[in-house]
Amino acid sequence: MTDARFPVARPRRLRRTAAMRRMVAGTRLHPADLVLPMFVKEGVTEPVPVGSMPGVFQHTRDSLRKAAHEAAEAGVGGLILFGVPAVKDARGSAADDPDGVVQKAVADLRADLGDALTIMTDTCLDEFTDHGHCGVLTPDGEVDNDATLERYASAAVAQARAGSQVIAPSGMMDGQVGAIRAALDADGFSHIPILAYSAKYASAFYGPFREAAECAPQFGDRNAYQQDPAGPIGEALREVRLDLAEGADAVMVKPALPYLDILRQVRDSVDVPVAAYQVSGEYAMVEAAAANGWVDRERIIMESLIAIRRAGADMILTYWATEVARRLS
Ligand code: PBG
Repeated sequence: MTDARFPVARPRRLRRTAAMRRMVAGTRLHPADLVLPMFVKEGVTEPVPVGSMPGVFQHTRDSLRKAAHEAAEAGVGGLILFGVPAVKDARGSAADDPDGVVQKAVADLRADLGDALTIMTDTCLDEFTDHGHCGVLTPDGEVDNDATLERYASAAVAQARAGSQVIAPSGMMDGQVGAIRAALDADGFSHIPILAYSAKYASAFYGPFREAAECAPQFGDRNAYQQDPAGPIGEALREVRLDLAEGADAVMVKPALPYLDILRQVRDSVDVPVAAYQVSGEYAMVEAAAANGWVDRERIIMESLIAIRRAGADMILTYWATEVARRLS
């Protein structure tokens, strides 16, 4: 027997047509929300494909300019630059060398693009150290927090002098935002914002990045400075709070999709822009599955970005930024 009164509510009414669904959508993506991470490698004459990240390259200075121009044309909001120097050493000297690969590339991009999109730099040492850790080491082989702060401060100033418009410290040293803020202010860059990688987990999802940036640690791992995925409840919010107290202008959660709970907590607890980094392993998994014909590549890309946005990200760092921006417009 059917009861004529039911169903009382019919949520399906608002899902009947694409136009209807579009009209009632609560989450939208816009090209300007997207940030493209890019790699530039010193001393190469052709872009080098990253094997574990199909479609991603270690750029030459010239191919970087071209790809950055394409991102700007597509309406991408910003890019964040990572450099692979020709020579690495224990202290990561190339990180703050005025002629270092990142500094030169930033200057190129600013000359080409001006303010067409926001040009940001990752501030860390792992791409520049021969041991692959994110800081300088003590004689015992531990990462020396406070000695590393001086290196970060110097690298941030070098990046700002080259024209970087946002400094993004990613090394998870205690006090890094404050140290960088003080150094920038002292060098005449009080107007340059800091996007802090505040809640950054020690994640296997960074695997392909370490090929792209040639920065796999030569011994040990990053577990003594990046956050434990199973770490204390509230740890991410504490890191965010500390970074804001030290002067961060925006904060980041990383990786993205496996940490949507953290992203939502952070979004609900701050009144600054929140970024999420859809990292290399998130990218590689989708590309690999799609290459096998196991998933619908475009739908997975869009669904994952919508999920990250819905969890509270204002900005999303994604290797698909240019492609998605084109699709959106
Ligand atoms: C550190 C840094 C890393 C990533 C961004 N900045 C590597 C790490 O912390 O081990 C990873 C990004 C990605 O996986 O896409 N400079």
